[in-house]
Amino acid sequence: MSTRLLMCPPTYFGVNYAINPWMNGNIGYTAPEAQRQWDRLLETLRVAGDVEIHCVEPAPNLPDLVFTANAAILSKQQAIVSTFRFPERQPESPIFADWFAHHGYSVSDLGQISFEGAGDALFDRRKPVLYLGYGWRTDAAAVAQVASQLDTQVVGLELHDPRFYHLDVALCPLSTGHVMAYMDAFTPAAQDTLRRTIGDREYLLEVEQEDALQFACNAVEIDRSIILHSASQRLRERLHSIGYRVFSTELSEFLHTGGSAKCLTLKLDDGPYAAS
Ligand code: ARG
Repeated sequence: MSTRLLMCPPTYFGVNYAINPWMNGNIGYTAPEAQRQWDRLLETLRVAGDVEIHCVEPAPNLPDLVFTANAAILSKQQAIVSTFRFPERQPESPIFADWFAHHGYSVSDLGQISFEGAGDALFDRRKPVLYLGYGWRTDAAAVAQVASQLDTQVVGLELHDPRFYHLDVALCPLSTGHVMAYMDAFTPAAQDTLRRTIGDREYLLEVEQEDALQFACNAVEIDRSIILHSASQRLRERLHSIGYRVFSTELSEFLHTGGSAKCLTLKLDDGPYAAS
C-alpha cells in the first residue's frame, strides 16, 4: 500500500518572523534554494518507496505552512487540528481544518490549549502509545485531552532545550520498534519516562548532538528507507544494521527556520499501532 503524505510547496517560504532559536537573525531571508530542495525531497521520497503525495495550496504570508507535520495529529479518519502557540501560525489552522474536512476526516481541536499536531505527537510503531512533547509549543494539558479525544494511551514528554522545540526534531519512532532520540532535548524526568516506555535498551537508538543539530531525528520513514537532511557515518551504519536504507537530501533552507524532512510531511494514514 502506498504511503500517503500531505505536503505544501514552498512558494511563499522564507523567514518572515522568529518563533524559535533557529530563526533568530534570519528574518528577511528569502531562501532562494527552497523550491529546488523541496522538489528534490519529493523525488527522493518517490525513489525511496511507494508514496502518494497530496498538497495543500500554499498561501501568501504563511511561510511555515510548508511544515504540514504541524497541521494536526491524525488517527484513522480523525484529525485533531493544531491550535498554534504563536499568532504568526494561527491562520494556518482553518486552512488545514478545511483540507481534512474535505478529505473525509472528522475534525476537532483542543480549544484554548496549545497543540502543534504531529510536530509534537508521534505514534510508537510497535506499541499502542502516542508520544506527546510539551513545554515549548504544546501545553502539558494537551496530554489528557489528546488521550481522551483519540482514546489512546499518551505518554507526555517534557522538552527542555529551546533548539528542540518540537518533539519531531528530537524523537523518531521507527517501524522496527526502534526509537531514535536525542536524549538531551528532554528533561531528566522525560528521559526516564522514555526509557521506561521503550523498555528494551536495544530499541533506544540514541542520537548524538552533532546529528541532532542536523535534524537527523526529523526523518521520514518509507518502506524501510529513512529520508533525512544529513546523518553521520556512525548513525548511517547504525540504521543500516537494523535494516534501513538511508537517503540524505539537502534541506538547509528549511533548517534556517527550524525544520527539515519530517516537518515537511504529514502521514495521512496514521494511528496507534494495532497488532495484526
Ligand atoms: N518555523 C516553524 C516553527 O517554528 C518550523 C516548524 C517545524 N515543524 C516541525 N514539525 N518541527 O513553527
